[in-house]
Amino acid sequence: MSFRNLVVGAVIASLFTSRVRAVDNGLAITPQMGWDNWNALGCDVSEDLLLQTAELIVDYGLQDLGYHYVVLDDCWSSGRNASNNNSLIADASKFPNGMAAVADRLHALGLGFGMYSDAGKYTCGGYAGSLGYETVDADTFASWGVDYLKYDNCYNMGQAGNQQISEARYATMANALNATGRPILYSLCNWGEDYPWNWGSTIANSWRISGDVYDNWDTYDSRCPCTGADAWNCGLPGFHCSITNIMNKASFIVSKAQPGAWNDLDMLEVGNGAMTDAEYVAHFSMWAIAKSPLIMGNDIRTIAPADLAILSNAAVIAVNQDPSGSSAARRWIYGINGSDPFTGPSIQLWSGSLKSTTGGAQSDMVVLLINGADESMPMNASLADIFVDNGPGGTAPQVKMSWEVRDLWANRMSDEEAAAIIAASSGTGNVTTGYNATEVGAGRYNATAMSYAEGLAANSSLLLGNVTTTLAPSGTVTATVEPHGVAMFRLRALPTGMMRKRDEL
Ligand code: GAL
Repeated sequence: MSFRNLVVGAVIASLFTSRVRAVDNGLAITPQMGWDNWNALGCDVSEDLLLQTAELIVDYGLQDLGYHYVVLDDCWSSGRNASNNNSLIADASKFPNGMAAVADRLHALGLGFGMYSDAGKYTCGGYAGSLGYETVDADTFASWGVDYLKYDNCYNMGQAGNQQISEARYATMANALNATGRPILYSLCNWGEDYPWNWGSTIANSWRISGDVYDNWDTYDSRCPCTGADAWNCGLPGFHCSITNIMNKASFIVSKAQPGAWNDLDMLEVGNGAMTDAEYVAHFSMWAIAKSPLIMGNDIRTIAPADLAILSNAAVIAVNQDPSGSSAARRWIYGINGSDPFTGPSIQLWSGSLKSTTGGAQSDMVVLLINGADESMPMNASLADIFVDNGPGGTAPQVKMSWEVRDLWANRMSDEEAAAIIAASSGTGNVTTGYNATEVGAGRYNATAMSYAEGLAANSSLLLGNVTTTLAPSGTVTATVEPHGVAMFRLRALPTGMMRKRDEL
């Protein structure tokens, strides 16, 4: 071997040994689920908040549905300890028992502990950041028993502006986390700056694709750049991003989602009070089909029954947690009454393939019709459009098949049952609701006992929605969709034997 080849070989070997790929850390094989305090509570953090929330996540059956990580966001530290290797100190007034005690309590409940820091000199709230302290901070987090790190982008000291610079800054923490030997889910939060979907999968389990979400359906805000058809080329940060703005950005990069590494559309706003029920249903459905992490962002201590019902829809979560792990894609978008579809109200069709639940070779399909209009709309989606990936212009073999159409919102928990779950947990009884303690929550899906993959393979009725109709070849799915709402279906192939019988009739 020549000297040159030896040097090249050594360089390649060192690249492989120094860069353990976070996507290979075995975590987030399906999008991570959990809760984070930021959207509802901002800097108002404490040990009590985390532990009360954790207990409610268990009591309300949310843990059983897969919500696993309790993530503490910004504003938790009181600086560094110069006499202990400059390690971060938890604010003793907010966390009197220290972070390891919080982690222990969460672990005892079967939950994971998420922590926040920043790839900059300060966090966005002005607390100590981890830039230059990656190793000591990763070691501290591991010693506390942290399972998840959300890693922000404020005060990055100019170490941004192109993909390589941002990637290198975030890779330093990836390597430090990997070096601890503790599996720590790594969630990049650089707001889509410098196109993290191009490099995030080599070092992390998820990456934010946009500036901060806010509790709003479609209001334009200049602080959230990239609203239109050019959003595919958005490497800019921002904030005050509406639900439809973020979904539009996601539409261009769906191919970047893969098991272990996900486009993060930001934390959920369901339950924060500024959107309608239909908008929250739409928001939750969109995040689910795009394979975004599902991180609840509301105050669980004051959750309303209707919001608990949305967050508890196992049939929708099963789409998000589908073992095939590929994002749905937008098939069409039209402006309403001649408006620009990207800046004005629109109607949209998304679809995406899911693992088969029929036992046959043909994948199931999720279909989402989105109505951005201010009034109810009759909407439809042809099999030709739903299956366009398998052949353009109606040539897909699936267009010639028959399908069962299952409404994934049909079995939404009633407000009455959700209220009973909340009442049972708070010990206030449930006399008015008519549910007794053993009935409350009975028959709900338990993903900690049976994973979504197993439940789908076993055809759990809790995951498959309700059959509404069947489609003949070249058929069309139709639905009347609420203003700012969605219709969401799972299509399952009907056996060819049944098709033949139908034809013979
Ligand atoms: C932002 C981040 C938010 C939240 C906040 C805390 O940069 O996108 O999700 O973490 O910082 O200050």
